[in-house]
Amino acid sequence: MTIGVLVALGSAPFEPAVLAAVGRGRTHVVRRCVDIADLLATAASGQGAVALVSTCLAGLDRQVVDALESAGVAPMGLVEHASDPAVDVLRRIGVVSIAAVNVDAESLESSIAAAAGRRDVEPAGEPSARDSASGTHAQQTDEPSGRVIAVWGPTGAPGRTVVALGIGAAIAELGGDALVVDADVYGGTLGQLAGVLDETSGLLAATRAANAGSLDAASLSRRCLQISPRLRALTGLPRADRWVEAKAVLVRSVLETARRVAAYTVVDCGFSLEVDEEVMYDTRAPRRNGATLEILSRADAVLVVGAADPIGLSRLIRAVGDLAEAVPRAAPTVVVNRLRDGIGWSADDIGSMLRRTTGITDIAFLPDDPSSCDRALVAGRTLTEAAPDRPLARRLRELAADVSGLSEQSSRRRRGRTQRGQGKKSSQRPVRV
Ligand SMILES: Nc1ncnc2c1ncn2[C@@H]1O[C@H](COP(=O)(O)OP(=O)(O)OP(=O)(O)O)[C@@H](O)[C@H]1O
Ligand SMILES: [Mg+2]
Repeated sequence: MTIGVLVALGSAPFEPAVLAAVGRGRTHVVRRCVDIADLLATAASGQGAVALVSTCLAGLDRQVVDALESAGVAPMGLVEHASDPAVDVLRRIGVVSIAAVNVDAESLESSIAAAAGRRDVEPAGEPSARDSASGTHAQQTDEPSGRVIAVWGPTGAPGRTVVALGIGAAIAELGGDALVVDADVYGGTLGQLAGVLDETSGLLAATRAANAGSLDAASLSRRCLQISPRLRALTGLPRADRWVEAKAVLVRSVLETARRVAAYTVVDCGFSLEVDEEVMYDTRAPRRNGATLEILSRADAVLVVGAADPIGLSRLIRAVGDLAEAVPRAAPTVVVNRLRDGIGWSADDIGSMLRRTTGITDIAFLPDDPSSCDRALVAGRTLTEAAPDRPLARRLRELAADVSGLSEQSSRRRRGRTQRGQGKKSSQRPVRV
């Protein structure tokens, strides 16, 4: 049986050469698609194994590539020659197989056959990423090396944003380059908390660029706001109803690019993981919590934040269960926030209860400190700037050192002796029970 090919080249000048190459024995043309709608409808109907696309096809973007893959059709990009700038664009929208058409028809058909069989192996005739002469390309091919720390938690405002910004600021103080990304699909508050005004959402600008294939380290950096010398922020959704623009596949691109921009990317996630939409609609419907699931499954470390009161703790236990079901490989650190005397439970009581009910042993505690939080919010500063000597800022630094692997010793040396007493160990140190 020969391989079915969908041709959607948008009248690229090399279309005749491609049509001459398909049908030489191993492949046949299923359909010449006139536009994206035609292409996606044909792919969804289960016809064709490979879709030949080019940047001449109007509307070709990351979401189209994702839709083809979901339909089981391997997208294959065709370009004039190996150093065609279209190579970069195709790669950035997620096209793995790319072939130059300036080869003989037989080699081109072999490339198409290879794309059908092995999506992620470069087919013959494919221009190597390193061959590209494009300036931005060098930045794109740098190995992404930054770590991603996801901050998630149940409903009830347990303090995810406070913890995400606090950890980012503390990592920066410890000497790491940190980027805090507001990816809360229920509406972002990071900009307000960090005291920065952003007229357009950084996250949405980045997802738009990711969809169009123009997102690279330089363009993402331009969208970030500088909070302090080593701390940047990417602001979130201005309104909750804009969540449809933060689709999982696009947030994945932003996250992978962030790994090239900062050594540590701390992501403030939405609270829910429900996937009910999948039951209600067909699987191509956008899923509100898709972005959250994407972040949690790709993060190097996950912090689950819960409030230290009876309601907060029961929600926290349920959330840990939901996370284990949705992302079984996540090994979260539980952060019990707003620990206070009035509750009547000590850190040890809560720790052993959580260990018994969730099996998790990596548990940190942050004290309740409304006056520090208010001071930071009103001044538009981070907690470690606004109240550096308070126990909350100290616990955040300790937690940041734990999740980042950066040493607190070096930061104490860096900050000198101006903050007396801060190096002292306190009895409320994050405990590992
Ligand atoms: N350790 C703390 N001590 C005192 N107040 C705190 C502490 N942590 C968070 N808060 C307060 O709790 C409130 C909610 O915090 P935050 O906005 O971080 O929660 P969230 O989980 O991100 O909620 P949302 O669902 O709105 O995104 C804020 O008013 C914040 O100042
Ligand atoms: Mg929040």
